[in-house]
Amino acid sequence: KRKRKAVIAGNWKMNNTPTEAGLLLEALIPGVHDADCEVVVCVPFTDLCNVVAKCAGTNVHVGAQNVHFEKSGAFTGEVSADMLLDLGVEYVVIGHSERRQYFGETDETVNKRTLAALNAGLKPIVCVGESLTQREQGVTEELVRMQVKIALKDVTEEQVKNVIIAYEPIWAIGTGRTATSDQAQEVCAAIRKVVGELYGNDIAEGMTIQYGGSMNPANAAELLAKPDVDGGLIGGASLHAGKFCEIVDAAT
Ligand code: G3P
Repeated sequence: KRKRKAVIAGNWKMNNTPTEAGLLLEALIPGVHDADCEVVVCVPFTDLCNVVAKCAGTNVHVGAQNVHFEKSGAFTGEVSADMLLDLGVEYVVIGHSERRQYFGETDETVNKRTLAALNAGLKPIVCVGESLTQREQGVTEELVRMQVKIALKDVTEEQVKNVIIAYEPIWAIGTGRTATSDQAQEVCAAIRKVVGELYGNDIAEGMTIQYGGSMNPANAAELLAKPDVDGGLIGGASLHAGKFCEIVDAAT
């Protein structure tokens, strides 16, 4: 029996027009209706309105893929936490490695976005993870510890209960090269340890820590069987209803 309820979240990235999103959900929603894990889809801003409407009254929860840290104002092109909340969004992915790599996201901005999300009442899915070079240099654990510590700076004990951390080794994202279940377990356990140092063991034991990076129907069960892997953040496989449902099944 799992220590914590698993959370399986699809990260659609920049895929699916509103029309395509509707079609995908028509296949996905019935396929996961009896899931006994939490099911989330993190979709582009332009899909949110339709997706929230389609998922209302189902067990599929909705997330965005980014949020700005200011409350409102002259920030052309940005979307605030209050806007997401008002729309009916529940989760938000923060600090995905693609945002760190291509859009100048730093540990500091990840922290600001995490605080903005929590203050508004959204549940952040904070992404951390090392590059291949960093893994080869043997600094994975140190790096991930630091990413977690900075992301959670000034987050209160009460707030941290709403945080999910997703461990996504960059070399495993979209590459078909999944971390072994032992590698995933090792880093997820290290994350739980640092959360314990910051907030105490009870909070650490309650925290959801996901693995992400080429998770698919063939490897999900083994990854999710690890004691500190409480779910998955799924990219490519979340774009296929059938594959996503199989991963959800592996978590139940
Ligand atoms: O956020 C999920 C992600 O980065 C993993 O992507 O395509 O390797 O499952 P993928």
